[in-house]
Amino acid sequence: MASKALYTLQDVGYAYDDGHPVLEGINLTINAGEKVALLGANGSGKSTLLRLLDGLLFPRQGTIAFDGQELTEAHLEDEGFFLAFRRRVGFVFQDSEAQLFNPSVREELAFGPLQLELPAAAVKERVDSLLDLLGLADLADRPPHKLSGGERKKVALGSVLASNPEVLLLDEPTAGLDPRSQRWLVEMLVQLNQAGKTIITATHDLAVVPVIADRVFVLGEDHRLAAAGPPREILAERELLMRVNLIDAAFHEHHHQGYFHLHAH
Ligand SMILES: Nc1ncnc2c1ncn2[C@@H]1O[C@H](COP(=O)(O)OP(=O)(O)O)[C@@H](O)[C@H]1O
Ligand SMILES: [Mg+2]
Repeated sequence: MASKALYTLQDVGYAYDDGHPVLEGINLTINAGEKVALLGANGSGKSTLLRLLDGLLFPRQGTIAFDGQELTEAHLEDEGFFLAFRRRVGFVFQDSEAQLFNPSVREELAFGPLQLELPAAAVKERVDSLLDLLGLADLADRPPHKLSGGERKKVALGSVLASNPEVLLLDEPTAGLDPRSQRWLVEMLVQLNQAGKTIITATHDLAVVPVIADRVFVLGEDHRLAAAGPPREILAERELLMRVNLIDAAFHEHHHQGYFHLHAH
């Protein structure tokens, strides 16, 4: 796998308008083709970090480079760069409902690529193959908001994959899904990574981390990077996980079993 730096974050800090720091002094590199997890307790700044990686927010301090180009508001106002970046990076929101607004699954999948000015014939071909890949063919004409949570998540993922991005940003993708849908999603992310996509997942679900990540970045409740490393090393650091509020003593063994079970599939 190529180890070209895709994202380079240098001393990134962010605060929303109320001024409380939400991210501080974040230094990290994500390589093309990697699968990484952003792990942290609720409120540690994972979703904010994903928004920064997606160019929806911009650092108040420090810099973010994507493939050697700095992500700034001014740069994304350039239409050429904007379209190129939006084609290369897709974001699967935590709340699928917020992502889906078309009258049918088929139109939902076609929406992004049409926005990105891909030719209509190519879009139709892509939508048909995605309906197959995601097992959504039977639901193609249904309104997305009437589907189950797991089905909606598939449509949301499909609507992002329709633009064939190199990078997928996913915010708590397994949250609220039943176990079978969770497993389906996790296995799909692994397949997409094997097909060459860079997969960046924000989660506080320790059980899925060893499957969806080769490298983990842990955000502390102080909004700084508390640790980075391979899942097995990070998940073995009980003190660290307790300090960042990802486990407490009572829950630890339960999570431990969970992740070995899932890992052994
Ligand atoms: N739009 C917003 N305006 C103000 N504060 C926000 C906003 N979104 C998130 N925050 C705050 O930023 C911090 C980090 O939030 P978030 O990035 O959502 O963390 P996580 O995804 O790890 O739960 C929290 O304290 C949260 O309340
Ligand atoms: Mg979040």
